[in-house]
Amino acid sequence: MSRVYVVGAGGIPVGKLTGKTMRAMAMEACRELFRKIDIVPDLVLVSNMSAEQFTGQNHLGVFFADQLGLTGLPAWRIEAACGSGGVAVHQAYIAIKSGLYDAVLVIGVEKMSEVPVSEATSYLAGASDIEWEISSGVTFAGLNALIARRYMHEHHVSSEDLLQFSLISHRNAVQNPLAMFRKPITIEEALNSKIVADPLRLYDCSPVSDGCATVLIVSEKVRKQHPSTNAMEIIASRVATDTISLQDRKNLCELRASETASRLAFKDAGISWKDIGAFEIHDAFSIMAALSIESLGITRKGEACRLAAEGQLEITADYPINTMGGLKARGHPVGATGVYQVLENYLQLTGQAGKNQVPDINYALAQNIGGSGATISINIGRRA
Ligand code: COA
Repeated sequence: MSRVYVVGAGGIPVGKLTGKTMRAMAMEACRELFRKIDIVPDLVLVSNMSAEQFTGQNHLGVFFADQLGLTGLPAWRIEAACGSGGVAVHQAYIAIKSGLYDAVLVIGVEKMSEVPVSEATSYLAGASDIEWEISSGVTFAGLNALIARRYMHEHHVSSEDLLQFSLISHRNAVQNPLAMFRKPITIEEALNSKIVADPLRLYDCSPVSDGCATVLIVSEKVRKQHPSTNAMEIIASRVATDTISLQDRKNLCELRASETASRLAFKDAGISWKDIGAFEIHDAFSIMAALSIESLGITRKGEACRLAAEGQLEITADYPINTMGGLKARGHPVGATGVYQVLENYLQLTGQAGKNQVPDINYALAQNIGGSGATISINIGRRA
């Protein structure tokens, strides 16, 4: 089976991009990718959560292939809520491993900000169980608030402890030209921000964002034909699932799908979490950062906040997380997020992360979540 490489990436700055269409966003990100690389893809995969609701547009695979002059190629969309991007990269990995394709263009795109936040909230709720959860009146942030409350109770953790993850993400976003919020925040600002869903405040939450990121994933054959390209090898790619509803979980305070996917991915890769130099984790809400860190095995259950408080998750420390700002501060254009994470792994492993570069890094990991822990992908990259 062929080895799998990312040989190029392109993204646009995440933000509230009023007036910029989904088509314009994708063309800009693809231009950025193909400016540096001359490889024609043979498959186009589009990761997106809710374009039909946010913009009215459907049939996204051919929509973008056509715009790119790639009509005739197979092209389709992949949807796994906020986890769409990581799953699309997984599907590109499978496509190359199968031997059927040699160059897969993955486009992660979401245009969220043209509708009122209340409307966006109702579309985002589609990541959970509409009939059995959302019908009770809870929002998606509300589901995360329930998990946070339980975690705070079980592990004697405060709001201040959880907000440490947001402080890290905001600090790391300052030097990322693609980040939405390029300013550090203080714990006082965070603690005084408005309540979104008690106990979660504004600064516990990722923002509603627009963004598009692309990666080109190729076989060993294509990589050898273009030896001068900056490359990252994808050495493992796994996806696992859990119950869609929180009510069916045995334990609200663990991400079983992340535990399963990471265990399998580390086994495939032949490495452990100790070898990873940068963890791009899914901090859609601060509580998800805590559960994600624990699910990867970096620390025991209930201990993630302690790692943050001790400074062990900073770029210069042992276990750097969200080196380019994470969902909290780079932004979270839902269907595009997993592709931004792999782009960030690629920048780190090819020495292109600028002031956020983790020194002497050999491996990087992207953990992307759909719903409140129901679909979770793990992609692991190695310096090629
Ligand atoms: N963090 C920091 N600042 C934020 C922010 C966030 N998450 N969201 C918005 N802001 C800022 C805006 O930039 C704006 O600042 P300005 O006044 O200086 O321009 C201000 O807050 C108000 O923005 P607005 O869009 O009106 O915020 P809102 O109160 O309507 O929405 C949230 C805030 C948190 C409710 C919304 O961003 C949200 O629902 N986030 C979660 C999205 C989600 O569930 N994603 C899926 C997760 S898997």
